[in-house]
Amino acid sequence: MSAFDLTGKVALVTGAQRGIGLGIATELAHAGAHALLTGIMDEDGECAADKLRRAGYLASYRHMDTREEAQVSQTVAAIHAEMGRIDIAVANAAIYPNTPIAAISPFEWDDVMAVNLRGAFLLAKTCLPYFQRQRSGRVIFLSSITGTRVSSPGYAHYAASKAGVLGFMRTAALEFAPWNVTLNAVEPGNILTEGVVEHQPQSFVDAQRAAVPLRRLGTPHDVAHAVRFLASDEASYITGQSIVVDGGQTLPEMATAILPEAAQ
Ligand SMILES: NC(=O)c1ccc[n+]([C@@H]2O[C@H](COP(=O)([O-])OP(=O)(O)OC[C@H]3O[C@@H](n4cnc5c(N)ncnc54)[C@H](O)[C@@H]3O)[C@@H](O)[C@H]2O)c1
Repeated sequence: MSAFDLTGKVALVTGAQRGIGLGIATELAHAGAHALLTGIMDEDGECAADKLRRAGYLASYRHMDTREEAQVSQTVAAIHAEMGRIDIAVANAAIYPNTPIAAISPFEWDDVMAVNLRGAFLLAKTCLPYFQRQRSGRVIFLSSITGTRVSSPGYAHYAASKAGVLGFMRTAALEFAPWNVTLNAVEPGNILTEGVVEHQPQSFVDAQRAAVPLRRLGTPHDVAHAVRFLASDEASYITGQSIVVDGGQTLPEMATAILPEAAQ
């Protein structure tokens, strides 16, 4: 058996039609799990699952809006009934509007919290009773370096939601440890995804790249490898922790630090 093998496991990933979520679903399927892609962009989701199946992986897609409690509980119950188990739940779905605090309406604040924080809570709360009965299970949250370690103007609500995810994760890790259930998180730095391309000007992306000591933006695969590790048997003694995947971006002491260039 290869390292970080997930053969026979059933893994649900939210917001998995594209970006980091699709990278995670692909990596978990590559490790042998049946990847259940969920989300709200149904055409893209069906298409992504179909592509994975054609590549020889076990994968399927289901509509699930993480803001809707009934949808989350019905989808998780249906997956459990069909597959006989759920082993891994990845709370990936999120939105990240860039709005200065003075312009954030209470509605926008609530919307960000509903998807990013309440959605992660709903997924975990729904899956945890199944994991308790199995005496095993993994919940993995996509947090961020934004809010937990650093921030950028315009992301106050997003930062609050991502810091909140870690607070929730630590408490849940304590409450569910007696059932051999672990909850961990990954904090990505700047990962180049469709969402980033859609919402950020090229100048922002270039500035991000210049701020990364490893001199490149991350890829969904960089994040997916950390998730695969946390989902694996090799990580069974790790709970309530988070792994930063940021190319060293949060290391410099000074915002104006001049990063060394590689010798030619
Ligand atoms: N890209 C980055 O640089 C970066 C950095 C740090 C953290 N993250 C985190 O990684 C995760 C994925 O980010 P990404 O860049 O791939 O984003 P993305 O915008 O490319 O993808 C997000 C996915 O979530 C889905 N989604 C949105 N609202 C939903 C809802 N209500 N219910 C279900 N699905 C919904 C979208 O349809 C999309 O498929 C997020 O949690 C994000 O906060 C990303």
